Amino acid sequence: MNIQDIFKNNQNWVAEKLADDKDYFENLSKGQTPSMLYIGCSDSRVTAEEMMGVHPGEVFVHRNIANLVNNVDLNVMSVINYGVRHLKVKHVIVCGHYYCGGVKAAMQASDLGILNPWLRGIRDVYRLHKNELNCITDEDERYNRLIELNVQEQCINIIKTAAVQQAYYEWGLAVHGWIFDIKTGKLKDLNINFDKVLRNIMEIYDLNQKPSIEKI
Ligand code: CO
Repeated sequence: MNIQDIFKNNQNWVAEKLADDKDYFENLSKGQTPSMLYIGCSDSRVTAEEMMGVHPGEVFVHRNIANLVNNVDLNVMSVINYGVRHLKVKHVIVCGHYYCGGVKAAMQASDLGILNPWLRGIRDVYRLHKNELNCITDEDERYNRLIELNVQEQCINIIKTAAVQQAYYEWGLAVHGWIFDIKTGKLKDLNINFDKVLRNIMEIYDLNQKPSIEKI
């Protein structure tokens, strides 16, 4: 891809949009009210909007290596807080993908410099689920399972935040864990049971005094 082609593509896209609706960009400029927050991997093959079939203005997006939700990452925590508290999204999605290089790297013993602290988040997921993962003898299967468990743990990390707990009580915010399979193009829902996870972790992570855990 030639960098100059990008500008040509952009002109064509603008023309197409305006041919359809002459006020398209004028309307876009008025503000955003997305109903979903998507947290996915930076992998160039996993394009959030295209594979979900959504348009500009419909999804608030954050992407990083291996779709991690790290408690001290100001970037992802700001996105979650803004998305939930200000945009008042109804759904938060963590979308991982098979063939994730970040997860693969975390499964290997090597010093990757600045990536070490980042990928440690995935090694921690491995440690939490070591018994299950070590029982899987096929390496590809173990890799795929770690990708799924990583999504599950990042959903739990989202549920540990005050903004999300509050939004759950106030408007029934839902958290979803998905996997995108690059080989088939299909999205898979891991069917994470938000209520069950919440009930399970609230004993330790409850950040809202009311309503009490019994009322969930
Ligand atoms: Co990835």
